[in-house]
Parts: sequence; structure tokens; C-alpha cells
Amino acid sequence: ENTNSDNSATTIESGSKLSPDLQTDSHKPQQGAPPQNKVFKNLQLKDKSKVQQEVGNDSTAGLVDPLTPVPPKPLIKSKSQISQELQTVRKSLPIWSFQSEIRTTIRDSDTMVLVGETGSGKSTQIGQFLLNQPYMSKMISASGKKYGGCIAITQPRRVAAISLAQRVSSEMGTTLGKEVGYCVRFDNVSDASTKIRYLTDGMLLNEILHDPELSRYSVVVVDEAHERSVSTDLGMGLLKGIVESRRKEKVPLKLIVMSATLDVEKMANYVGGTPKPGETSEEVIPAPICRIPGKIFPVEVFYTPVSIDNFQTAAAKTIFQVHYQYPCPGDILVFSTGSEEIEELASMVEELALQMEPDKPKLNVMRLYASLDPVEQQKVFVKGSPKERKVIISTNIAETSVTVPGVRHVIDCGKVKMKRFRHQLGIESLLVTDISQASAQQRKGRAGREAAGTCYRLYTEGHFKRLQKDTEPDILHCDLAGAMLTLLAMKSEHSMTTVNNFPFLDGPNHQSRVKALTTLLELGALDNKGNITKVGTKMSKFPLPPAQSRVIVAAGEEEEQNKKSEENVLVDVIDVLSCLSVDGNIILQPTRWRKTLAEPKKEVDPLLPQKKKKKRKHADDEDSDEDLTLEERVHSKRMDIVHPSGDHITYLNILRRYLSKRANEQKKFCQEYQISYPLMRKVENIRKQLRGYCRLDKVGDLPRDSEMKYESDTMVARYPRVSQEQTEKILKCFMAGLGVENIAKRAKGGKYRTLTSSGNTSSGVDVSVHPSSCLMWERSEHEAKRTKKDEGRSSWQRLPEGFGEAVMYQDVVWTSKAFMKCVSKIRLEWTTEVFEDLTIYGT
Ligand code: CDP
Repeated sequence: ENTNSDNSATTIESGSKLSPDLQTDSHKPQQGAPPQNKVFKNLQLKDKSKVQQEVGNDSTAGLVDPLTPVPPKPLIKSKSQISQELQTVRKSLPIWSFQSEIRTTIRDSDTMVLVGETGSGKSTQIGQFLLNQPYMSKMISASGKKYGGCIAITQPRRVAAISLAQRVSSEMGTTLGKEVGYCVRFDNVSDASTKIRYLTDGMLLNEILHDPELSRYSVVVVDEAHERSVSTDLGMGLLKGIVESRRKEKVPLKLIVMSATLDVEKMANYVGGTPKPGETSEEVIPAPICRIPGKIFPVEVFYTPVSIDNFQTAAAKTIFQVHYQYPCPGDILVFSTGSEEIEELASMVEELALQMEPDKPKLNVMRLYASLDPVEQQKVFVKGSPKERKVIISTNIAETSVTVPGVRHVIDCGKVKMKRFRHQLGIESLLVTDISQASAQQRKGRAGREAAGTCYRLYTEGHFKRLQKDTEPDILHCDLAGAMLTLLAMKSEHSMTTVNNFPFLDGPNHQSRVKALTTLLELGALDNKGNITKVGTKMSKFPLPPAQSRVIVAAGEEEEQNKKSEENVLVDVIDVLSCLSVDGNIILQPTRWRKTLAEPKKEVDPLLPQKKKKKRKHADDEDSDEDLTLEERVHSKRMDIVHPSGDHITYLNILRRYLSKRANEQKKFCQEYQISYPLMRKVENIRKQLRGYCRLDKVGDLPRDSEMKYESDTMVARYPRVSQEQTEKILKCFMAGLGVENIAKRAKGGKYRTLTSSGNTSSGVDVSVHPSSCLMWERSEHEAKRTKKDEGRSSWQRLPEGFGEAVMYQDVVWTSKAFMKCVSKIRLEWTTEVFEDLTIYGT
């Protein structure tokens, strides 16, 4: 195939088995716009609100005689206008005709299982159906305690919780955060008046920790139960108990378990029905089941004739194949694995799209993944213009969590990025794995919601047949330490025995239980008898993984011991953790640069390497920043903030610099250094909340928020260097939380080898530093020259002897090999200080 041609039509593989012949005339898109008067006529026939919807805010779109004065129309639609328009959509959802059945079922039973195709309206409608029902009113128990009034709807993903709350508050014509709100980690947009509250399943666990009877709620809906996240599974087990105890108190809690695909009978038996008064049967009574029949149009499936190595190129080709073959409308949904892959593919498609003939409908490429800005995420739900085609490149969020309208073509890479416990490494890491057949079918189904569609599987039919039938629940694969700690902290009488007898839908295997308990023991969260310790109780209160909450508790202890020290280690540790707790890297990778910063005026043509070299030479001669490429400029800037020990302290440098700027300069700072401004705003918020948790749980002694300004000013004074002593203290706190398993010792050839829990490398694995780590930023020639002139401006200081004998890392990702993410250099002797029982030397 000819991929270098200028003419994009020939760059696309035609006639392959992947899709029918591209050249078929009958499939060619309709060319040119329909005659003006036709559009005019059509519009006149429709009712006014529909017309408004179609022409948007353009009041001059040829609806009336142009000579007749048109009264000015409001530019922005009011909430009630939008809400009214959405009512028609609501009524067309498959679930609409089932509302009275749903209401009566949950009136007569405390539990219920609701199954229906993705997009049938479960997540958006269930709350609205139940509002104002008698069982929603507040109740008072015999002991005088108030119960009820609110509906909780849990989601495994933050994106879904936020976007659902936005959608439902629009449907109801209310302000987000009032009647309808959401609560995800570090972001609570709801108040006491909230009646429908979308929250992540992790946040529900956190609420149970603070209010074991969930007294605020009348109904809890567990959505996407088939995803079987660890928190969903744990939540369901706990909710079963709460339903029972609230029934006894005569202040019932209703529990609805919802899903797209589910082993319905198994779930109904697990959730359990409501015994009739006087019934004492020991037999399991299943929860009532309500099924919403789905409307699915036929979807034609295509497989690749041979296995594919490069999914990115294959996906890009298929996108254009579909685009050339099928006329609009009909958007394309591509399932990819993670944000980096999505950004790469999106940029590739955007570039190729520039080469399309001008008469082809435009391609509007959109990304969809968890760490994307919510405003960006919301764009995928907006119906595009008929003259362009949306290409949505998504993680498996679009599989069942969110329904993107307008999709008729699906491209499925057959992979998913999942958290998996790596026994070899002893830690949990993100791993790209094959999807299950059930997932593949769900993905295919996304193409047939509105009309007949097509699904392109970028794998062979044989491969599909070999895929596992169902996706296994996370509880069988993930690190359970967090879940176990939550359980132990829930009630003081919960001991290892109750944890071991916990009624899981699918019990985690013995190996994972033992591993989780060992981790907690090593972190000092449990004592030798298996009871939760003071440290463990403190840790459980933070909405963070156990390793990270241990870092905070360690910093608190350190801070208590060194109260007089000017540099507060707890403050700095919280700052670093805040940077780590946002979805995504605050330091933007080059693939995302273009979006936030315009190309410099004198950008050289990337297709002309000769010319580029010449320019660079010129730049060196003049020693000015102006002629540098974007990459060189950003890189040179970043040398001011990088810390030679690695990512942890570099994050601290960035946050200190950012906070020391006035609000109106922070955005500019982010642009110059290519730091994500939206993420920095979140970091600020998380930092505030983590400090709040510390004060609440009496961890350390933090300065008051009112002193924050003073604090930033001293930070400026301290800038640019975090002292050597402080670097050591901070990194040691991180080591205490991360454990020996997150340390790798330097081996020959610049490689690293992980340590095992006994502190040797004999059974460790080889790991490399991920390209996104600042340890991979090389000092550019330009920078070297500049610093020579201006000694002291750069923070590229020399590290003391011994640094880098080992590294500590937050995460491991497996792609072509194992890569460590967020890495810092440490001295090997610290390991024996932090982990007293270890003998590292000589291994
Ligand atoms: O939960 P289920 O998958 O059954 O459906 P849903 O999420 O309630 O979606 C019902 C409809 O609302 C779909 O057509 C979605 O496209 C739309 N929706 C939306 O426009 N914006 C959202 N944030 C969520 C749903």
C-alpha cells in the first residue's frame, strides 16, 4: 500500500477483507448541499422548538421573510427550555414505559435487580422515577434518629458520575449541585438539599465508613454492577447488611442493582428478596427482577484476515475506510486502551484528515477518557452537524458507562487497560489485556442503537473465539489491601475472621487475601493478631490507596518529631501526593502540547529537515529563544523546574512555583512550561482537602489555610531549591508507604531490577524508567550553554554521592516491557533505615 502519497484516497487500503470494496458507487457520500429551498421548506414544516434546536442560536437562518423585523431571540436557552426539549428524548427511552412497574416493584420489595441494554435509560431515569414516591420521605426510627430523603446512584467511574449528574440536572431544569449533584473523590458538588446524588462506588464506601447505616439515603442504586469493580463488590456485600438492619429498625433502605449484562439469577439470589411478614424460611428468596427489552438494530461484523501488530495504524486506516465508504450521518466510535494511545491516534487521524479532498465531509475527532477535562468529555454528547462526522476515540468507558449518540460504526482494538496484581512484582500495575467475548459483543452493540451499523474487529475471528467468555471480577485480580482496610476500619469488632467470612459475590482467592493482609501488616496498619492499629485507623480515613495514606501518616510522625524545623515535611508530602492524585500527569506530554499553546511564529517546517538544521544553527549563534522550536523552548524552560532526584521533588518544585504566582499569572506559567492548568486547579483543591483530612484526624500540625499566602511567599523565598535534607525526608516518607516492592536497584547497563520483600534482587524483574519521567529529560545543548553563562539559575544541581544506586517508583506499566512511572533516585542505604529488617548489600 502507498502510505506516502499526497492523495489520501490512495493511502487507504481498498478491497481488503476488512471491509467491502471502497469504490462501490452506491456507497459514495452524497455530494454537495441540498438546494436551499428544500431546506427552507423542511424547516417551515417543523414546530418552532424543533427548529430552534436545529438552527441553534442563529435567528437569521432563513426561517422568515428577511425583510420582516425579527424580534431578538435570547442567545442562551434557559434551563426550563432545555429541560422541556429533553422531555421528548426521555419519553423515547425504552425504560420510559416501565416506570410504573419499577415504582411498584421497589415499593413492595426492599431490593430489586434491573437489567437493560446500555442506553435504555437506566442511569439517567431511575432517580427521576423514584423522586417523590412515598418511600422517599424522611422517617424517624424508634430511637428518634432521622433517616432517608435522598437517592444515591453509584458508578464505578468518576466521568460517568459527573456527566450523569450534569445530564439529569439539565433534564430536570435545575442547577447542578442542588436537587441533583455528584460526589467523587476530592470533588463534592452536592448539598443538604440534594435528592439525587451520583457518586463513585469508592465514595459510597467512604460514606459507610462515616455513617454505617447510610441514614441520609432512602434508596441506593448500584449501577454498572456487571463491571464488578472491587469497590462495587465490597459495597454490595455491605449494603446487604445495611438493608437488613434498617428493615429491623423499620426505616427501610431500598437497594436496586442495575446492569447491562449480568448473570441475573445469580445476582438476584445474592442480593436477596424481602421476606414476607412472619416468614422465617431459611431458603434464599431472590430479589425481584425487572428486564427492559432493548432495541438493537443489526450490526455487521468484520474481522481482520491476519493478526495485527500495530493497532494505531490499523485503526486509522479503518476510520478512513469507513469514512469513504459510508455517507454521513453515522459517527465512528473507536475503542482504544488508554489516554496516551488515544491522543496518539487522534493526532494521527487529525493530520491525515487534512489531506482529504475538500468535498469530503469533515472529520471531527474527539477523545474520551477518564482524565479528560469534564468540559471536553461533555462535547461527545453534543449531536454534530450533518455535514461532518464525529470520530470518538475512547477507552472502555464507552462500552457501557456512557452512551454516545449518533454512532453507527465501531472499531474495536480488542484490548483493555486494566489494573492487575502482578505476583512477580508484588504490586498492582496497569496492564493491557485481551477483552472478553462479552465485552466484544457490548462494543459491537454500540453501533446498532439508532440504525443498522458495522463493527470492525481489529483481530481475527479465530482470536475472538479464543477470548474468555466473560470478564472476570476485579476482586480476583486486584490488590485488596485498600478494601480489607476499609472493612477492618468499619467496625471495631471487625477482625480478620469477619473479613474472611465477608459475603462476597465471588470470594477473592486465598492468595490475594493473604497478600492484602501481609501488606497491611507491613504498613503497620494491623498488629500481629490481625487487629487494626492506630496507624491503620488513621490511614483508613484518607480517600487514598493504603500506600499513599501511609506516606501521609509517616510524614505526620516525622513532622511531630521535628516541630522546630522550618521546612514542614507534611506540607510538602501532601503537595506531592496532591500532584499524584489527579487523573493524569500534570506535566503534559508532547502529543498534547499543541492544544494549549500556539505554534511559535517561526516554527520550522517539520517536513524539511535541512531547513530546520540551518535555523537551529542560526539560533545557537544568536543565543536567543525566538528561533527555537516549540520542543526546544519548552524543554529549556523545564530545566528551571526539574529536580535531579526525579519526579517527586520536581512535582513539588512545580507546585511551589505555581502557587507563588498571582492567580492571573498561573495560566501563563502553565503554558510556558506545558503544565496542565485544569489539573493544577484540581491539585490545589485536593491539597486543601488532604490538609482538611489531616486536621480532622489529627495527623501532624499544619499551618491554617489563612496562613497559606504567607506560606507561598516563603516558598518563593525558598525557591528554587528544595534543600538536600528536605529531599531526603520527603523521599523517605514515600519509601515507608510504597514499601520495598516499589524499589529497584541499579543494575548493569543503566537498567534497574526490582527488590523483593526480603530485600534482594535475585527474583526481581528488570524495569526501565518510563519516557514520561523527568529523569528522561536530557539537558539540551542549548540549556547547557545557557547555564554556563548563568550559573545558579538552573536547578539542575549535582546530587550527593550515592543517589541513584536505587530508585523508588509509584507505578509500573507494561507495554513492550515493564516501565516505572513517577520515579525518584534514592540512596541504597536508606532502605535499611526505612525498613529495619532488611539486608540489602551483597545481593
Ligand atoms: O444507563 P443506560 O445505559 O441504560 O442509559 P443512560 O445512561 O440513562 O442513557 C440514556 C440516554 O441519555 C442515552 O441516549 C444517552 O446518550 C443520553 N445521555 C446523555 O446525553 N448525556 C449523558 N451524560 C448521559 C446520557
